[in-house]
Amino acid sequence: MEINLAKNSGFCFGVKRAIDIAISEAEDSKNKNKKIFTYGPIIHNDTVIEDLKAKGINDFTKFNFHNNYNDVLVIIRSHGVGADVYQDFKDKNINYIDATCPFVTKIHNLVFEYSSNGYEIIVFGDKNHQEVIGIAGWCKSKIYIISNIDEAKKLEIKKDRKYAIFSQTTFDVDAYKILVEFFTKNSYNLTVFDTICPSTKSRQEEVNNISKMSNLMLIIGSKNSSNTKKLYNIAKSNCDKTYLIENVSELEKINFSDVDSIAKKIGIGAGASAPEKIIQEVVEYVRSKF
Ligand code: F3S
Repeated sequence: MEINLAKNSGFCFGVKRAIDIAISEAEDSKNKNKKIFTYGPIIHNDTVIEDLKAKGINDFTKFNFHNNYNDVLVIIRSHGVGADVYQDFKDKNINYIDATCPFVTKIHNLVFEYSSNGYEIIVFGDKNHQEVIGIAGWCKSKIYIISNIDEAKKLEIKKDRKYAIFSQTTFDVDAYKILVEFFTKNSYNLTVFDTICPSTKSRQEEVNNISKMSNLMLIIGSKNSSNTKKLYNIAKSNCDKTYLIENVSELEKINFSDVDSIAKKIGIGAGASAPEKIIQEVVEYVRSKF
């Protein structure tokens, strides 16, 4: 039996940066009149959120401050927020640190610039995901958010208008190519930006390669996490026995004695919100089973 753990597993640069900022501010706030919050959950991982709560870091959006923000410091998470949130912080004099991932900030700036200059905006992504909601919050013109080719076909795109196209940073690389091809083939007036982040690309590529040669694949991460779900779908398309798990306790549901006789190679990948500790626990568990 062979275990192949993807090298690009666990916290990406943007998530790690946001968590490090929150923890360092919490350390700094000890013995000071300062309460640390994150704007929404900093990461799609309940274990990490609970660890942060234990360090005194809570979700700003879940509290009523009765307009008293004196001791409050808010960390804006890596997924980013719309321009209205910055304005609200300014209006209410709320202290904040912006931990938006630079790859996401780049999209905010481009969406603002192009939508202010006569372009309509098309975003490929999940309309309910916080990153996409944040991106939409920088748009000054009409915005279309679509997640698949069927939705693309239903858009009322006009040949006499200009469009700028973006993707959510964690969108599926191949699906983005297909969607962009659909629009370019129809000779619309488009400016396309490649905004899938480098970490997402290398993760998807590696999981694709490993799952092709595995008899069983485990993808570690939250079921709410966009990039984790994409990894799961890629692995599943190559390896029928692919499981999405949040932590080691879910491995108990997998019948490894059945798998043992079939699986010779086990592949493991993890989304950007999976902590290293959980990844190592999964690897140890799998090793112990064979
Ligand atoms: Fe940033 Fe990419 Fe992570 S956009 S938050 S490095 S998945």
